[in-house]
Amino acid sequence: MPIEQSSRLRWIEVAPTEAVVHDIDIIQGLQQVPKTLPCRYFYDDRGSALFEQICDLPEYYPTRTEQAILEDCALEIAQTTGACELVELGSGSSRKTRLLLEAYQQLNHPLHYAPIDVSAGILQDTAPMLLRQYPTLNLCGLVGTYEQALSNLPPVQLDRRMLIFLGSTLGNLNPQECDRFFTQIQQSLQPGDFFLLGVDLQKPIEIVEAAYNDAQGITAEFNLNILHHLNDRFQGNFAIDQFAHSAFYNVHRHQIEMHLISLKPQKVLLQKLGYQTSFYAQETIHTEISRKFDLPTLTVDLKQRSLNSVHIWTDPQKWFALLLCQRQ
Ligand code: AVI
Repeated sequence: MPIEQSSRLRWIEVAPTEAVVHDIDIIQGLQQVPKTLPCRYFYDDRGSALFEQICDLPEYYPTRTEQAILEDCALEIAQTTGACELVELGSGSSRKTRLLLEAYQQLNHPLHYAPIDVSAGILQDTAPMLLRQYPTLNLCGLVGTYEQALSNLPPVQLDRRMLIFLGSTLGNLNPQECDRFFTQIQQSLQPGDFFLLGVDLQKPIEIVEAAYNDAQGITAEFNLNILHHLNDRFQGNFAIDQFAHSAFYNVHRHQIEMHLISLKPQKVLLQKLGYQTSFYAQETIHTEISRKFDLPTLTVDLKQRSLNSVHIWTDPQKWFALLLCQRQ
């Protein structure tokens, strides 16, 4: 990645791009029964672009619902935190964060923003637009995973910092990962700092299942892109058209589960990893969970990590929530 620096723009590569993905996870996942792949492999540049398309789908309510909540409360957030630097985990195109930048700008607070994403491409596309749009913005882009980035945050510039984790990406972590993640958030913040968290809430199954089975098949393409990514990166030979997308709601675990189904018996070689595996017809690869939360449980979990919810905003249907937490 070209490291372009200027007085308002800095890049920190917290892991060399190749090492952002740990190959060992792939082999371990494909050796499990049933097979799994970690969902972060969705996000090569093509996967990130497909996810952007998902966000605009009529069935995919989380993005527009969270956006509407933020439109209503961004100013209140900025008023509550005061001047504060924003660090966003999984920033993508920073679409929703612009509402926060507008609010801090409106209150004449200095604008410091550190977007973090595993996709260098999406960060590099977004950064120049943000710098043009906000003439006083100081931007420090971090390429890497959350874990890597949280351990390599740039030195604090303002008295307060707010970590931002929007889009219910928390739902893609299982309960143990979620626990570890909250601990990392707690450790990355000083007392008085803030954590802004967007989460998808439990709701009727039909609405949730439709969001992951859209009529245009973009979610299916996104799911299958994980195989494209592995083919590209590891000289693999997954026959993409011999796998099908499946997504359903697990009512006991309150989560959407995405799988890929092998349509026939087949062998797959990932040449660069020196690894071959075989599939029987209808064998699945579990690619993602997307948990749906209930607020009382979530706020207790956060409090156990010294993250007190100081304000919670929801939409009128209570489909999505935005929690502003403060580190005690
Ligand atoms: C990024 N994450 C919160 C999305 C979700 O809804 O779990 C990823 C996604 N998977 C399928 N559609 C969207």
